[in-house]
Formats: sequence, structure tokens, C-alpha cells
Amino acid sequence: MEKTLIIIKPGAIQRELIGEVLTRFERKGLQLCGIKMMQLTDEILDEHYSHLAQRSFFQRIKDGMMITPVIVCCLKGVDAVHIVHTMAGKTNGREAIQGTIRGDFSMSVQENIIHTSDTLENAEAELARFFKKDEIFDFKANNLHFVYANDEL
Ligand code: PPS
Repeated sequence: MEKTLIIIKPGAIQRELIGEVLTRFERKGLQLCGIKMMQLTDEILDEHYSHLAQRSFFQRIKDGMMITPVIVCCLKGVDAVHIVHTMAGKTNGREAIQGTIRGDFSMSVQENIIHTSDTLENAEAELARFFKKDEIFDFKANNLHFVYANDEL
């Protein structure tokens, strides 16, 4: 099974959407195997958004991610990276389709509720960036045979 990262951004914390966001992933059948609140720093955001360093909004997006603590989560499931990224919807909340998290809760490109890893390679790097090894729990979920058929596991 794959593991992927989500970051519930300050805008969602301020708008009291933490439960709403987590409920969507729980209901889908994804397993929460790591969760913590943390205050991001300029250093960790320089690394996390390094691919955007030359963009005009680089400092603004970093500042926005430090306004409040964020919630980082590790979600696990078959094809979890693609599923979670798709459930978030398009980056721009105004373009994201209804039924996705951003489609339902965001009107903005920057204030787009959550970050999700976009590839398996990035998910592994991002989980290592935000979690220590012993903060991710590989316990066996009891409901697996109700979430998946045997040949999917
Ligand atoms: S990319 O280049 O494909 O990674 O870009 P994208 O996935 O569209 O966006 C990456 C993150 O940059 C943020 N973003 C912006 N913030 C402010 N202003 C503008 N114009 C803007 N464009 C992109 C966007 O919210 C993405 O943040 P994450 O945390 O990855 O969702």
C-alpha cells in the first residue's frame, strides 16, 4: 500500500475545516497512520516549496503557511497518492470541480485548504520531511476486508 502526505493549511485551520477534511479521507477508506500539529518554519518551507523558489509568490506562500500551525497527516491505502491528490481537486479552488475539497471549500489558488503529494516519489520525500520514523504507525486496520476485495490487497 502507498502512503502519502497531506498538510491542512492555516486557512483551513482558521476556518475550522480540520474535521471536515479528515472526515472525507476517513469515509473514502484511507487509513490515518500519522497526524500532528506543527509550526512550519522558513527553513522547512524553503525545502518544501524549492520548486517554486523563482516564482513571484514564493515568499507570500511561505508566509501564508506560517500564519498558524498546520496539521500534517500520513494517509495509507491502495493508490493513496493519486486518490488523495484527486480528492483535493485542482490547485485553483475556483476551477476545482464540486465534490473535491478545493471545489467545495476554496475560492483561491493560494488559500486552497490542503497540500497533497503529487507523486509517489514526492510523497516519500515529503513524509520524511515532516515526520520522524516513529511518528508513522503501521498498525493493521480491522476494516481492510470491507474496504477492499482480497485481490486488491
Ligand atoms: S506546480 O508548479 O505544478 O508545482 O504548481 P501548482 O501545483 O499549481 O502549485 C504549487 C503550489 O503553489 C501554490 N501556488 C500559488 N500560490 C500563490 N499564488 C499563486 N499564483 C500560486 N500558484 C500556485 C499552490 O497553492 C500550491 O501549493 P500546494 O501547497 O502545493 O497546494
